[in-house]
Amino acid sequence: VGFVVVIVVKLSGSVFSLETKDEPLKKILKPIEDGAKNGKRFVIVAGGGEVARKYIELGRQFGMDDSSLDQMGIEISRVNAMLVNGCLNSTVYPSIPKTLEEVAIALKTSDIVSCGGFHPGHSTNAVAALIAERVRASLFVNTTDVEGVYSSDPRKDKHAKLLSNIEPAKLSRMLEDAKMIAGSYDLMDLVALKVIERSRIPTVICKCNPDIIQAALDLKDVGTKILV
Ligand code: UTP
Repeated sequence: VGFVVVIVVKLSGSVFSLETKDEPLKKILKPIEDGAKNGKRFVIVAGGGEVARKYIELGRQFGMDDSSLDQMGIEISRVNAMLVNGCLNSTVYPSIPKTLEEVAIALKTSDIVSCGGFHPGHSTNAVAALIAERVRASLFVNTTDVEGVYSSDPRKDKHAKLLSNIEPAKLSRMLEDAKMIAGSYDLMDLVALKVIERSRIPTVICKCNPDIIQAALDLKDVGTKILV
């Protein structure tokens, strides 16, 4: 059937904020819909956002185990993925896949497949990276609520610079340094980074904004590229 280009886009959980004032979901999905119209296929991975965080925080107060807390985050991210499907006019897979295999099968028949989390123990970034690996995605666009990876924490250091690219080993050290990422775990998790590294998945970390996503899909220089 020829070669089909598949792109994986992780949507920052911030898009699913209960009071999103800036970029509504429809605008953010526009570049993806346009790409699908031009014959590309997409897997969209929805984050859990503030709703997931709130449930996890409450569950923790009740003494729930971490696995169950993660499971609540997963369920919320799946509900967010349903909202993504509801927002799209393209041919979407009418269910939220729960395994890599199901994603691969869904992609055979649908232009766009949306998922949330898979298993406890990692974030939706890792899910997105694992999917990108499985479907041999030509690009992984990992959107966050910041512009990309900075040389230091931009909230604390006014000289912090946005890096146009970064070596996996350096990013790994930054992610391990808890202080540097406090409050911004959304950037990337270590499982995701390992997968990106081992399968050399072309990856860009960028802000979840329609123009920036469009530019990333057009392979323009936005956000931070991971050097694989
Ligand atoms: P995320 O942390 O990935 O969503 O998933 P987010 O906070 O919206 O992500 P960013 O901020 O955009 O990056 C929400 C929670 O769901 C659980 C974890 O507890 C995670 O913090 N989860 C998600 C899993 O346990 N496994 C998964 O595969 C996905």
